[in-house]
Amino acid sequence: MAEVVAAGKPIAGLQGVVVADSEISYVDGQAGRLVYRGYSIEDLAANSTFEETAKLLLDGALPNRSELDQFNAELIRARRLDSEIIGLIRAYPKNAQPMAVLRTAVSTLGLFDPDTEDIGPEATRRKAARLMAKFPTIVAAFERHRNGHDPVSPREDLTHAANFLYMLTGTEPDPEDARVMDVCLILHAEHGMNASTFSARVTAATLSDIHSAITSAVGTLKGPLHGGANQEVMKMLLDIDQRGLEPADFVRAMLGRKERVMGFGHRVYKTMDPRAPILRGFSRDLTARAGQPKWFTMSEQILETMAAEKGIDPNVDFFSASTYHALGIPTDVFTPIFAISRISGWATHVEAQYRHNRLIRPRANYVGLSDLIYTPIEKR
Ligand SMILES: CC(C)(COP(=O)(O)OP(=O)(O)OC[C@H]1O[C@@H](n2cnc3c(N)ncnc32)[C@H](O)[C@@H]1OP(=O)(O)O)[C@@H](O)C(=O)NCCC(=O)NCCS
Repeated sequence: MAEVVAAGKPIAGLQGVVVADSEISYVDGQAGRLVYRGYSIEDLAANSTFEETAKLLLDGALPNRSELDQFNAELIRARRLDSEIIGLIRAYPKNAQPMAVLRTAVSTLGLFDPDTEDIGPEATRRKAARLMAKFPTIVAAFERHRNGHDPVSPREDLTHAANFLYMLTGTEPDPEDARVMDVCLILHAEHGMNASTFSARVTAATLSDIHSAITSAVGTLKGPLHGGANQEVMKMLLDIDQRGLEPADFVRAMLGRKERVMGFGHRVYKTMDPRAPILRGFSRDLTARAGQPKWFTMSEQILETMAAEKGIDPNVDFFSASTYHALGIPTDVFTPIFAISRISGWATHVEAQYRHNRLIRPRANYVGLSDLIYTPIEKR
């Protein structure tokens, strides 16, 4: 049998592999620091808005007033979904997973987009803004549909975050809730070469269009080891509560069975994810205000147990679960909220990929058989 020449030792999960230079964000896993275009996540969370942060990511610099007003107007104009898309959402099965709905709707939007196959920079930017504007409308429209309600038309006088909550519930949100949602969108907007961003870049690197790249990214974010973790955290909290268990016992039993506790651990952060303390504060305040402090208390007990048993810190998903729950958001809409935010980072990376493109095509180290002789089917 001829020798198969090894291509090199594979690196499991591509851990530590650097695949691009990027000016978009810096994730310092040792220091627990996250920086978008030079600005710390803490500074942006305290002072910026999602719209401004998205524009910062896309352009590489903070916008001035007129640039931001123009961008806001572009987003507001594009919020509404065409009747064809609303008709399709109404045809989706009511028991469909909201992330699967979002993935399908993004792909469908590509069929209707006037710039669909144009991957030039101006057309890509126009499509990015349209996608960013429409993500909340899609998520809210499906939420209404599956509950037997008509979609709520977007309002032009509300921020991106407030309008999303308004379309989801049909009621204008409390300004404090709207600001919490706004900051949550800032915190989730961009995070280096994470799995969904990488999948968007792989798709863009074939010179496929942005709708295809974002469809890949939404499908990748859906998994429980990535964006799906926030809803798994809430399922765990609900399970502990319904069964009247002690959170510490529950977690110890999970670890004893070698199971992953969702919302903990990170490929890059070896210390506290800098987004977690901000969300921890929201979780504490919102659960108290909603008269449900138990979700925060349980989360704290889980955090302490994980620190004592494994020395593993929470990631962005852990406290976002109780925060969204306290805002009255259904559990399976948590991951779509991540996508409503991360579309800004994905679009920025797609543009960067087109600008300095080279096909992304790694190799596999073949460890299978060779030189076998084909056996006709009747002789097998
Ligand atoms: C995010 C994640 C996939 C990163 O995984 P990774 O970089 O491949 O890390 P590893 O799988 O190599 O884990 C290293 C060690 O930590 C443990 N570990 C990591 N995350 C853990 C978790 N959430 N619960 C329990 N143990 C965990 C692993 O069991 C492993 O321990 P071992 O060396 O004793 O086997 C992983 O931490 C995880 O599954 N977390 C839960 C899902 C989640 O919250 N995802 C959202 C990420 S933002």
